[in-house]
Amino acid sequence: MSQGSRNLDTAKAKKKDDFYTQLPDIENELRYYKRHFQDKVVYCNCDDPRVSNFFEYFSKNFEHLGLKRLITTCFKNQQRDLFSRHDCERAIYLEYFGDQDGNRVPDAHEIEVKYLKGDGDFRNAECIELLKQADIVVTNPPFSLFRPYVAQLMEYEKMFLIIGNMNAVTYKEIFPLIKADRLWFGPSISSGDREFGVPDHYPLTAASHRIDSNGKKYVRVKGVRWFTNLEHNKRHEDLILYREYSPEEYPKYDNYDAIEVSRTKDIPKNWGGQWVFQSHS
Ligand SMILES: C[S@@+](CC[C@H](N)C(=O)[O-])C[C@H]1O[C@@H](n2cnc3c(N)ncnc32)[C@H](O)[C@@H]1O
Repeated sequence: MSQGSRNLDTAKAKKKDDFYTQLPDIENELRYYKRHFQDKVVYCNCDDPRVSNFFEYFSKNFEHLGLKRLITTCFKNQQRDLFSRHDCERAIYLEYFGDQDGNRVPDAHEIEVKYLKGDGDFRNAECIELLKQADIVVTNPPFSLFRPYVAQLMEYEKMFLIIGNMNAVTYKEIFPLIKADRLWFGPSISSGDREFGVPDHYPLTAASHRIDSNGKKYVRVKGVRWFTNLEHNKRHEDLILYREYSPEEYPKYDNYDAIEVSRTKDIPKNWGGQWVFQSHS
């Protein structure tokens, strides 16, 4: 691959690094996990609290979930480029210990704002110190750093609920985790696309975009999935399968002992071997 096309790939991936998750998508997924959060420290480590709906969700549902502490770190990219115009003066982190004045609202005076020494990169030592204090990590990490992001969660043996692209299941670092039952999809998104907020400077060339009445920009993204190692009941529901296996309809890969299926309901009920899920949408 030439240096030019490598740079283009990096730029494309980085472009998706600034997609902001919408509150309804967070609410729809989190309703499956309430029992996991009692007395837990939640860490959102790729989240500018001024724009992150993860901070919004966990601070407003702090008492409902019975949380112990919420930590949120904000990334300040020091190499400014076209797609990363972070406007925070310095990388900060917030800590919230819940409502103190009884109005059940996270007021500004109850949220502790502290400065980080570095740029807030989730791999920095000071962010790893915060990670160690956390029980559950919940966020939408930068698309271009999904592999090292998951590797770090695994290294520190954290529970997590994060957003990624379903194609990540094919990554050589991710597939073995799925196979070993250390990582699985969350239940709330299984098809279609999802809307994400994008920064003002984001070039709206995609077909599916929208600008709301306040001038905020959004794009629709395909293939989004929640990745987690938190138990949820849906993953234990029996799949009702009805398709019959035949070698004609389900040829094996030349270089891998598995058949390909494009939709869950197409898994043949009488196939005992491996299958690979490959969406063609
Ligand atoms: C896909 S966006 C999601 C933002 C937010 N978590 C949300 O879902 O709305 C990824 C975020 O990670 C931040 N980021 C990029 N590189 C990072 C890094 N190395 N460490 C921590 N955060 C990073 C970006 O600034 C961006 O805000």
